[in-house]
Amino acid sequence: MKILTERMEAHRGDSHTIERYEATGGYTALRKGLLDIGAEGVTAEVKASNIRGRGGANFPAGVKWGFLAPAKPAYLVVNADESEPGTYKDRQLMERDPHQLVEGVVLTSFALSVNHAFIYIRGEYPKPARRVQRAVDEAYAKGYLGTDILGSGFDLDITVHLGGGAYICGEESALLNSLEGRRGEPRIKPPFPAVEGLYSKPTIVNNVETLSNVPWIVNNGGAAYARIGPDTSAGTRMISLSGHVNKPGNYEIVMGMPWRDIIYDFGGGIPEGRELKAWIPGGSSAPWFVPEEHLDTPATIDDTGEHGSMMGSGAVIVMDDSTDVVAAAHRIVRFYAHESCGQCTPCREGTSWLERILYRIMTGRGRRADLDLLLDVSDNISPGLAWPPLMTTICPLGPSATAPVVSLMQFFRDEVEAKIGGEDG
Ligand SMILES: Cc1cc2nc3c(=O)[nH]c(=O)nc-3n(C[C@H](O)[C@H](O)[C@H](O)COP(=O)(O)O)c2cc1C
Ligand code: SF4
Repeated sequence: MKILTERMEAHRGDSHTIERYEATGGYTALRKGLLDIGAEGVTAEVKASNIRGRGGANFPAGVKWGFLAPAKPAYLVVNADESEPGTYKDRQLMERDPHQLVEGVVLTSFALSVNHAFIYIRGEYPKPARRVQRAVDEAYAKGYLGTDILGSGFDLDITVHLGGGAYICGEESALLNSLEGRRGEPRIKPPFPAVEGLYSKPTIVNNVETLSNVPWIVNNGGAAYARIGPDTSAGTRMISLSGHVNKPGNYEIVMGMPWRDIIYDFGGGIPEGRELKAWIPGGSSAPWFVPEEHLDTPATIDDTGEHGSMMGSGAVIVMDDSTDVVAAAHRIVRFYAHESCGQCTPCREGTSWLERILYRIMTGRGRRADLDLLLDVSDNISPGLAWPPLMTTICPLGPSATAPVVSLMQFFRDEVEAKIGGEDG
């Protein structure tokens, strides 16, 4: 079952053009929404679809839309920052089917009575940004954007904005600060963006993939979408598969299959006859899974969560038995230490402590006391080392940095100890 990638797979050369989009049913949902079922109808279909946000937090989109405060103007902001390591699905959706996103943005803005939407694209994505900007320009030229769209009386402008390359600007409130021209630092919540967001006005922030589903949902009905996959993980889901698999790439899957199928069927198994050692099921912020425990776990939002991790951003990073897991954890923690915005002490200090401890273990200078210290520092960032994490910080970046450390100590403590060696290290 393909919703998001059908067009781009069937028309590889020109799926991004407005001609191909219109020739394959594009903008029919817009007509249906604006001229037939109306704003309430669009909202009702999205609620009925049970679609949960694809940006990482899995929040039901229809419920979030319902939180939008009545003050005007209100805004829709599309999160196209896609900076979670291993994730590259939004890139494909923007590069290969930008009109699908634009149509989703117009329908969503219409449902929310929003007259200005922003698409915030990560700065390192020049090609997707060009394609989205071109799609926006074409949509204006065809009367799908601008004033009195399709004669419905609804007006919408879309602004495409490029970020400056900071990971933290993917966090929705940091993104809003960045869009306003401020430092990209997360805001303390509440207030949530739906009440006080961009320019202190009510704002809905949704991920590219979330909104790219909206045209299909409006065309086919929310109930049809809800019937795809398990009840609480409705619809298809883009997976960015990378690392030690024979066939890395983006795959649109129906949630619910065991993780084994994602790695061995979609991914074609582990190269060079090696063994699977571990994988990260939902971006580098997610705790790791191991074959002894998790190959038969269904790849759904809830099952993955109940087993102590998350489907997160959809990035699945596979590690074979040649992987130095201490080095892998260090590499991830180093990223978070570098990307910490510095507002919260546990994150600012703790992530670089973790990085330094892992570095000395990795380079053969670890001490026995480092084993406890790793967990102690992690516990200070994320009390109780619970999953989902308890927060001592403004945003989840700090707690995310503890995920690889806790996984390392949970599943591979013997390898960490072996690197440390004797009593004195
Ligand atoms: C540190 C951090 C980075 C994030 N990066 C992204 C990102 O790159 N893209 C994204 O869509 N959501 C990202 N999120 C999640 C957003 O804050 C927000 O939940 C999401 O954009 C909401 O869209 P959705 O409801 O459609 O999933 C990030 C969250 C955190 C804490
Ligand atoms: S947790 Fe880290 S990245 Fe998030 S607000 Fe605090 S210091 Fe900044």
